[in-house]
Amino acid sequence: MRGYNGLTDGHIFYRDLRKEYMMIDHAEGIYLYDSRGDRIIDGASGAAVVCLGHGDRRVMERLTEQARKVSFTHMSTFTNEPMLRLSAELVKLAPRRLSRVYFASGGSEAVETSLKLARQYHIEKGNSQKYKVISRTVSYHGATIGALSMTGHYPRRRKYLPLLTQFPKISTPYCWRCPYGKTSKNCSFECAHELERAILSEDPENVLAFIAEPIIGASAPAVAYREKRLSAGFHGRSRISKKPACLPSEVTYADLPSRLKQMVSRWRSRGVFSGRGSGKVSGVRPKTAGQP
Ligand SMILES: Cc1ncc(COP(=O)(O)O)c(C=O)c1O
Repeated sequence: MRGYNGLTDGHIFYRDLRKEYMMIDHAEGIYLYDSRGDRIIDGASGAAVVCLGHGDRRVMERLTEQARKVSFTHMSTFTNEPMLRLSAELVKLAPRRLSRVYFASGGSEAVETSLKLARQYHIEKGNSQKYKVISRTVSYHGATIGALSMTGHYPRRRKYLPLLTQFPKISTPYCWRCPYGKTSKNCSFECAHELERAILSEDPENVLAFIAEPIIGASAPAVAYREKRLSAGFHGRSRISKKPACLPSEVTYADLPSRLKQMVSRWRSRGVFSGRGSGKVSGVRPKTAGQP
């Protein structure tokens, strides 16, 4: 059987009950094979869930080896060697000053956790009035209510709008379709100014954090900051959250606006706002990709 009817076959609650689903029998590397033996390139695998490919021998061997030793330990009481090794590897890859890892089961949970971490950070600092998270219009941060509140992508938010916290959104630096109608020649980093304006108009006293994908994933794949100088500005000390491996990472800035003030003055000294400086600007043409 090739088509598996979402409504009448089996007991799974599929996303679209009117659709027919392909029955996948096995997979290898980048290929999925259906029950008739037809081969399909697994281009997106959700959102990069199988980024090492299907059936990687090293992954299978490690999983088996570990399952024989211990399957799970709860972080409230225990630690274990593989977790320590993985955290050390992640810290090696992470930008400077990011030296701690918090493990979560997926992207949405990581984003929710970073939101709560940012809130706790400010409560500990005596700033319990802070709660607003600024995010961007073109963005996807996950399917749970908190993550969807920070998400900008309207089609994914639409049905749940009354349930969401209405956080402020600013334009995404999406240079191929610049929200300000600018080009590489006359770009004046309006997007960076917009963040400053949003913080001021939302009242800096209430702003908890700013969250952004350095490289956008699900809502505009591969859209990234074009300017090395700008992204350098965003790699501040206050980055407190990084998603686990595989998916594009989010960054959350908790100690805005004091950090913003420092960031803006650093950008200013590098000529980011005056248009002088080193960066050559080139557009990134986004591709469409499978939705998670
Ligand atoms: C940037 C980003 N954050 C969060 C998520 C949500 O991750 P998950 O589907 O693992 O909950 C995604 C999923 O595509 C993502 O691209």
